Amino acid sequence: MTNIAVVGTGYVGLVTGVALSEIGHKVTCIDIDQAKVERMRRGESPIYEPGLDELMTKNIQAGRLFFTANHAEGFTDKDVVYIAVGTPEKEDGTADLRFINQVAKDIATNVKQDVVVVTKSTVPVGTNDHILSVIKEHLVHNVDVQMVSNPEFLREGSAIDDAFHGDRIVIGADAGYAGDMIEDVNEAFGIPVYRTDVRSAEMIKYASNAFLATKISFVNEIANICEKTGANIEDVASGMGMDGRIGHQFLRAGIGYGGSCFPKDTKALAQIAANHDHSFELLEAVIRVNNEQHRSLTNKAKEAFGSLKGRRIALLGLAFKPNTDDMRESPAIAISQELLLAGAEVVAYDPIATENAKRVMPEGVTYVSTAEEALRGADAAFIVTDWSEIKSLELRAYEQYLKEPYVFDGRNCYSLEDVASTSLNYYSVGRKAVV
Ligand code: UGA
Repeated sequence: MTNIAVVGTGYVGLVTGVALSEIGHKVTCIDIDQAKVERMRRGESPIYEPGLDELMTKNIQAGRLFFTANHAEGFTDKDVVYIAVGTPEKEDGTADLRFINQVAKDIATNVKQDVVVVTKSTVPVGTNDHILSVIKEHLVHNVDVQMVSNPEFLREGSAIDDAFHGDRIVIGADAGYAGDMIEDVNEAFGIPVYRTDVRSAEMIKYASNAFLATKISFVNEIANICEKTGANIEDVASGMGMDGRIGHQFLRAGIGYGGSCFPKDTKALAQIAANHDHSFELLEAVIRVNNEQHRSLTNKAKEAFGSLKGRRIALLGLAFKPNTDDMRESPAIAISQELLLAGAEVVAYDPIATENAKRVMPEGVTYVSTAEEALRGADAAFIVTDWSEIKSLELRAYEQYLKEPYVFDGRNCYSLEDVASTSLNYYSVGRKAVV
């Protein structure tokens, strides 16, 4: 059992803290937001993540999981401090390290015993060295501090499962005992550990996200060519994926990636390269292709209708992917902007993300509480997020409620054979239109 503090209770911090408590460590999660701390103490997760509430409650009751807004209290007697605060994107695409720097100073002023500091947040190569130098510069007590880079690979919506069944745990440490210690801390997860130096660990995180984003943009471009040549992207992706070197995952064509990670991390890596006088052209193209892919449904609708002025469009799904209420960089935002700009009316439905959507979607979107309500009287449906509720919506519902029988499916939720037996005009991604 190790005494651990986790600073920051966003997705990464909270899931990390809860998972570490579940394998037997005594964990205190620290957040500056007192109201949020109160909620978490009651076992209420501030984010929608399947399975998280239950696991929080279980470990709070077991006396292994604590929450505080008081740094001095949070750092007392801790052998390991995890940094999991956000690294938002600055105007120029670089990572904003304001919160990281603040935590480094808080650690320096509060720790009274030797400590290993572990960075979970995604940070540019060299940041862990920087954090260590900030801590050492502000250190109040004469203690030893060592750094470990331990990037996080969890996916929103399946974060709990990923925490216990991830493909690997990357531990980046330079000389010293810290790497061994963090390997011990993680042992009970039973996940393969990959040991490397600090800078390589930092790069593994960016390179992994950039590579996955590249797969998505690549398959989306193949889908666009499939549409022009009459091939079917699902068959193409299945055939490609059977090659073990390529693999089936992340070959789902759609309306482009979103979320808090891929858009931010791809831009940050391109910027890191640029800062080192290297133009990462491949990655720049991946980003451009993705931005363009967000427009694909609207482009198809414009082509089908001529003009979208006065057309009422039902958006089904708003979150950047299913099983999350996260709206950050969701394609729904760009799609709504374009539709409104083209003079269309937008009626939106999401099973979970509506409240978050209201904060980031453009003014002028109407929100309703069922898919049927969104469809009723609309000229077309745009399927934006493949929630299982939306995927299981019967094709009959579109025929019944839509004013015009147009469906633009950004997630290929329906089989072309099923659609062929309806009266719908159906446009999907990388497959022949059914009209
Ligand atoms: C992603 C990575 O998958 C995690 O490994 C990583 O830890 C995380 O970023 C992070 O850096 O914190 P996440 O953003 O939660 O996780 O979501 P993904 O499931 O990877 O999906 C990202 C986006 O790609 C979504 O918009 C999704 O719709 C899209 N996507 C994914 C596709 O369009 N096609 C695919 O085949 C797969």
